[in-house]
Amino acid sequence: MNEKAAVGEKAAVDYVKDGMVVGLGTGSTVYYTILKIGEMVRKGLKITGVATSVQTEKLAKEQGIPLLSLDEVKTIDVAIDGADEINHYFHAIKGGGGALLREKIIAKASKQFVVVADSKKVVQSLGEFPLPVEIVPFGAGKTEGYIQSFGCQTALRMQGDSPYVTDNGNYIIDCQFGEIKDPEQLEKELNNITGVVENGLFVDMVKHVITIGEDKQAILLDKLE
Ligand code: A5P
Repeated sequence: MNEKAAVGEKAAVDYVKDGMVVGLGTGSTVYYTILKIGEMVRKGLKITGVATSVQTEKLAKEQGIPLLSLDEVKTIDVAIDGADEINHYFHAIKGGGGALLREKIIAKASKQFVVVADSKKVVQSLGEFPLPVEIVPFGAGKTEGYIQSFGCQTALRMQGDSPYVTDNGNYIIDCQFGEIKDPEQLEKELNNITGVVENGLFVDMVKHVITIGEDKQAILLDKLE
């Protein structure tokens, strides 16, 4: 069974309705959401998408989904995105694909934030997946040193022989923490480091998760308030 396709498509069918402005996430799971939305648009659905990355913008255009920039829309009705890890409190690590900054900006601007996650992404505690931290290139080595003082092993993300550069012209430091005991505090403290632009901890942002249930079907989980 293709879990990514099952959860990705369910998000489109359940959440994307006529007239909405939809935040379009980045990655191999929401890829299926975007394909499904494309199919729905070709059958007459009227929506406007706001893309979280250059990669998603390209895919959405290929699918015929009308796009606007974030500043051109009043609000986003729903944003749908993947995650690298999500725990039972619905806190998530994102940014494995490098799009965490735009993803977080769009998630914050959305009335509802839905994560699509195959069964491997749902974890007891966050941190086995290296936490991506977006930093400015100036003084990158020094900023990486400050991040290490939080007790993690770090690696500058590379693309071939050069540092990987985000859509915003920044670098990514991947941080191996092991278990992250207090995601809320870590999210704030990392963002307090001068040189850090944003980190991939999404705390108290996700309202709905679509994942795979015990019967191997895509299921919707709502956050209990
Ligand atoms: C992109 O930067 C990420 O935040 C993705 O949303 C996340 O890595 C999940 O991607 P996949 O669906 O490809 O696993």
